Amino acid sequence: MSRRPPVTTLFLREFCTKFETTGAVTPSTRYLARAITRHLRRRGPTPIRVLDCGPGTGAFTDRIVEHLRPGDVLDVVEINDAFVRMLQRRFATEPRWQAISDFTNIHNLPFQNFDAAEPYDFIISGLPHSNFPAITVAEILHSYTRLLKPGGALSYVEYLYLRQIRKTLSRGSERVRVSSVEQLMLSHMSEHQVTHESVLRNVPPARVHHLTAPAGGAGGNTGTDWNTLSA
Ligand SMILES: C[S@@+](CC[C@H](N)C(=O)[O-])C[C@H]1O[C@@H](n2cnc3c(N)ncnc32)[C@H](O)[C@@H]1O
Repeated sequence: MSRRPPVTTLFLREFCTKFETTGAVTPSTRYLARAITRHLRRRGPTPIRVLDCGPGTGAFTDRIVEHLRPGDVLDVVEINDAFVRMLQRRFATEPRWQAISDFTNIHNLPFQNFDAAEPYDFIISGLPHSNFPAITVAEILHSYTRLLKPGGALSYVEYLYLRQIRKTLSRGSERVRVSSVEQLMLSHMSEHQVTHESVLRNVPPARVHHLTAPAGGAGGNTGTDWNTLSA
């Protein structure tokens, strides 16, 4: 029988081999998981649709499963095959995860290529936006807008000071990329009601951004100028 690596070992291994997409050395803490699921915790009695983007080994998923019940839908979108295998194992073996496995779907593909028949009430994302080319960030933001219900909540993470440090230290094309990503994120935020909370008990310390889509619908416009973006 093959020996499987524990969650933190697997995460570190994937960070070393796939730095750009993994984006952190270790899974998020329970404090960050609690903060990012704040809106979900206040769900009402009607069935909900939840999208978990970039779950890695399942730090946020482990909180999400606590708040779901039969009739809900959970879609999980993860690009990394090793993380997908870990998630499949957790849904098959951990009792709290097993309880919702019948209405959970794991999708192994880049989030920006993911589509769904219906939009979601809650999108919870661990994607490391600041690592990606601007064109990828634009596609991801467009997907959030497309997949979030009017009045729905999108919550994602940004590591504290990382953006400022990168802006200060980077040069040339990397500096252009960092500025373009920042402009895209700010423009996308400006189309939503936004609240923020800092979580210091995480490695690295993080800030959670909670964005609420306008109740009338965002109309699929992210404010992105697609023509000015370079990879
Ligand atoms: C910073 S880790 C966060 C993992 C987990 N949510 C946590 O907080 O511990 C980023 C995760 O996003 C995944 N990822 C990166 N780019 C992705 C993409 N384009 N589509 C789907 N998943 C992606 C990575 O494989 C990784 O699991």
